[in-house]
Amino acid sequence: MEIDKHIQFNSDGKLIHFLNIEGLSKDQIIEILDIAENFIETSNKKNKNLENKTVASLFFEPSTRTKTTFELASKKLSADFINIDIANSSTLKGESIIDMIKTLEAMSCDMFVVRHSISGTPHFIAKEVGKKISVINAGDGIHAHPTQAMLDMFTIRKYKNKFEGLSVAIVGDILHSRVAKSLITSLTTLNVKNINVIGPKILMPENLDTLKVNYHENLEIGISKCDVVIMLRLQKERMHEALISTDDYYQNYGLTKMKLQSAAKDVIVMHPGPINRGIEIDSEVADGKNSVILDQVTSGISIRMAIMTLIIKNRA
Ligand code: CP
Repeated sequence: MEIDKHIQFNSDGKLIHFLNIEGLSKDQIIEILDIAENFIETSNKKNKNLENKTVASLFFEPSTRTKTTFELASKKLSADFINIDIANSSTLKGESIIDMIKTLEAMSCDMFVVRHSISGTPHFIAKEVGKKISVINAGDGIHAHPTQAMLDMFTIRKYKNKFEGLSVAIVGDILHSRVAKSLITSLTTLNVKNINVIGPKILMPENLDTLKVNYHENLEIGISKCDVVIMLRLQKERMHEALISTDDYYQNYGLTKMKLQSAAKDVIVMHPGPINRGIEIDSEVADGKNSVILDQVTSGISIRMAIMTLIIKNRA
């Protein structure tokens, strides 16, 4: 599926959907982080930014964090929120996604939050929906997870107060990770000094050379002196065959307290979740003093509030 990465902007360059990080300027990313910070300062107090709006969430893949924080964010913005139970929806009787969307449009939905295993599905929906309706990408195939990248940028800024001058390591299955793709674009746009990508060659994308990253096959060398280490899980559901044994993976790429010693002393350890303890990360690290993994989850509420607020404001 050809993905139109510019469909998220109106003719004035304002965001009316939120589908990918590509095309966002540094100022646009910072604006979203600042709006989210304002929500944090007011303890995400309920407001009326989405009053009389209806948000429908369509998750064709499992989710805990993204789905729940979108629901919480919508409710804090006073939207009506509909959680479509895909497993019991009419798509099982042969209804196409577009017919489903048109049906929900007829019920006056204003915003669709979409997760799908096929890359580009949210972009396809954004092309097909009515002119006043917005689509947010909650993760599409191996392509993008832009709201996750935004909450990760929020977390990095919270702990490090800056982006320039930082060394950030992303460890694991880059090939199948939509999070990694959105992270690399965000960190590049924010002028992070070093983006180190670490993992076995077999889990690296073909276009790695075209990205502004430094590749390391060795974990301890790759995370050496890094300020931020972002761990990823093996995305087994997107592998056609087992590309690596979990034992080998843990041996070489599992983050232990010992291996983490090569990073900067005040390193923060991040993970988009869900985490697989004993495969990509040890419990000692996941629950340790450098871990900000649960803080990432919390930031997901204000970041999603910010993105939904901005899109609705840009349509006013
Ligand atoms: N990070 C993330 O997308 O987690 P969920 O699959 O739980 O939403």
